[in-house]
Order: sequence, then structure tokens, then C-alpha cells
Amino acid sequence: MRKLTVSLDHCTYPIYIGAGLLSQLPVYLDEVGIVPDRKLMVISDTQVAPLYGERILASLKQQGYQVDMAVVPAGESSKNLQQFEYLIGECLRFGLDRQSVILALGGGVVGDLAGFVAAAYMRGIPFVQIPTTLLAHDSSVGGKVGVNHALGKNVIGAFHQPAMVLYDVDTLKTLPTRELISGFAEVIKHGLIWDADFVQWLEKNSAELLALRPEKMIEAIYRGCEVKVAIVSQDERESGLRAILNYGHTIGHALEAVSGYIHYTHGEAIAIGMVGAARLSAKVLGTDESVVRKTKELLEAFQLPTQYDGERFPEDRLLLAMKRDKKVRNDEYAFVLTRKIGQVEVVRGIAEEEIRAALQELRKDC
Ligand SMILES: NC(=O)c1ccc[n+]([C@@H]2O[C@H](COP(=O)([O-])OP(=O)(O)OC[C@H]3O[C@@H](n4cnc5c(N)ncnc54)[C@H](O)[C@@H]3O)[C@@H](O)[C@H]2O)c1
Ligand SMILES: [Zn+2]
Repeated sequence: MRKLTVSLDHCTYPIYIGAGLLSQLPVYLDEVGIVPDRKLMVISDTQVAPLYGERILASLKQQGYQVDMAVVPAGESSKNLQQFEYLIGECLRFGLDRQSVILALGGGVVGDLAGFVAAAYMRGIPFVQIPTTLLAHDSSVGGKVGVNHALGKNVIGAFHQPAMVLYDVDTLKTLPTRELISGFAEVIKHGLIWDADFVQWLEKNSAELLALRPEKMIEAIYRGCEVKVAIVSQDERESGLRAILNYGHTIGHALEAVSGYIHYTHGEAIAIGMVGAARLSAKVLGTDESVVRKTKELLEAFQLPTQYDGERFPEDRLLLAMKRDKKVRNDEYAFVLTRKIGQVEVVRGIAEEEIRAALQELRKDC
């Protein structure tokens, strides 16, 4: 088991990463002062609840906790105000008070939604993140919680830090392969933006990671979280540095939007986006072409796509989607670009022609 500590101005919390941690959940809750006189509400989804929810409920009840579970349909479409309202109702029905605690058991969707319920219920109660996807090593750390609106993703939300993150890598065994691979894109992102040694380590260990070797997975998640923690502790509310976590996301979000959030998973879209950002860096900053090549090779080693279907998703639509992205200010394109592996920066005022040229090189038929 590995432990990381997040230290912010107003709070400190642990991240535990290990194999078989779920069976010891009551012990870890006890360590952060969540003892059986506090009511608990597990929030999960229809895919994860049958796999791990009942087991957790039974072990908590056995330790004397009063605990209930509320379940939402699996998938991004549950991250909305309707489910938020349903869950607030469940918390009221079960009689949660200001001392009660929400446990978010699932991927990023459940984490963001349950975290937002915790942020709003009675003006904020504590919550614990129990991530069960690889992508959620990213989403469970840092306190960004929220839901989508029909007109935009993640536009309703709050900053609400968890009391603890408990990451049991054994849960990844039941994750569909495409979701697992998608999660590696965010792990790789953490290396590319901050930690060149980690990138090398990922290159060396790709086969064992894809085979889910527990000790390697623990190390990968630990190092990915370490990067996120380092960035979030310097800039909790994204007034500057935290924006670099969006590396690959400008093109990635545009691809997700124009493909109706169906064709590409989030990880696939940002994998393509990171190659696009590297190509754009070569044009705008004069970054060495080897960065593009290394980025592509690493993503390919993890079976991630590095090109997009330009026939289906024309450049003009992608550019329009980028303009709508909340990160575009005053009609100016801003990108996180790379100088070298492990070092990135936000660059504003990028000319549309440069982006078009980078997108053309990213096309499958190029
Ligand atoms: N808050 C943040 O900082 C932040 C950062 C990145 C992403 N996000 C958000 O995270 C969300 C995506 O998260 P995700 O990729 O984890 O998606 P997800 O939560 O929808 O999980 C993907 C699918 O896998 C299933 N699943 C989860 N764990 C499983 C397991 N162990 N075994 C079998 N099936 C399992 C889920 O039911 C779902 O169908 C997006 O909404 C995104 O906006 C938030
Ligand atoms: Zn992301």
C-alpha cells in the first residue's frame, strides 16, 4: 500500500493506493475520524454497485455503521441536475445530518456527482472518494465536483475536497478493457506535463501495466496522483498552474463534442489531443519533433489512438467546438503546449492557421 498526502491551505487528506483495500474500508475510515456514530450514504452506479456496493455495505454494517446506498444509472448521462436532486432526496430520506459522510463508489461520473451532492447537502458535508476506474485516479483528487448542463459539460460545480481517497487497484480487474486503456491516457498526461522520469518508466512498463500487474498499477497510480497533487497544492482553484492539467484537452474536448460523446472515449480523445498539442508546439514554440514521435509511440504502446477521422469530423467543426470551449477567452485560442517531455505551459493567442495545420497532420488519411 502507498500513501500520499494532499496538503492545502484549509485541509489535508490522505490518498491510499493498494490491492485489497476495500475489504479494510472501516479501518481507513476510522483513521480519518469517520467512526460508527456517523451515518454514511454510499453513492454508486448500476454497474459498480452490484460488483462492490453490497460487499461494502455489509462490512460497514458489521462494524456498526448506519449506512444506506443510492444508485444512479451507469454512464455520463447521469451527471445531471435530475440525478443530483434525486440523490439529495435520498440523503434526506435516510436522515443524513451535517456530521454524516457520503462515500462515492465508482468512476469519475459517480465521483463528480456524489462530490457535488456532498458539497451542496446542508451547505457541505464530508465525502470520501473510492475510485474504481483508472481515469478516476485523476478525477478523485483535487476537489473539482459537479454536473453537466444540456448546454455544456461540467458547467455546474464546486470545489469540495474529499476527506480521503481510497484506491483499491483490484477493482480495475472488472473494468472493461476500453475504459482501462482510456484511463492510461490521463496517466500518460501526468507524465508528459510534469515528470520525464515517469514517462520513461511508463515506456518500460507498458506491457505489465496493460496486464494489470498490481505492484506496477499501484506505482503508476501513485506517480500519476503525485503529479496531480503537486499541481493542485500550488493552485487549488485553477487561477494559473492548474490549467496545465488540460494538456491535450482542447483538441480532445472538441473531438468529444463533434462526435457526440459517443465515437471516442475521453481518454482516446485526449490521446489524439496530446499528439495534436505536441505538433502545434513544434510549430509555435519550435519544440523538437522527437517530442511528437515519443508522445505517439508511448500512446501507441498503450493501444491508444493518435490520429482522428478527418473525413467524419472536419476541421471547421473542431475549430468551432474549440471556440465554444470555456477555456477560449475573448475569441483567442489558448493551448497547453510542450517545450520538452515533462514541461508544458499555457500559450495564448495562437493563430487559427497554425491549429488548422496541426489538425491536418493529425488526420488518419494524412
Ligand atoms: N473532477 C475532475 O477533476 C475530473 C477530472 C477528469 C475527469 N472527470 C470526469 O470523470 C468522468 C469520467 O470518468 P470515468 O471515465 O471514470 O467514467 P465513468 O464513471 O462513467 O466509468 C466508466 C464506466 O465504467 C463503469 N465502471 C466503473 N468502475 C468499474 C469497475 N471497477 N468495473 C466495471 N465497471 C466499472 C461505470 O459504470 C461506467 O459505465 C467525466 O464525467 C469527467 O468529466 C472529472
Ligand atoms: Zn481529462
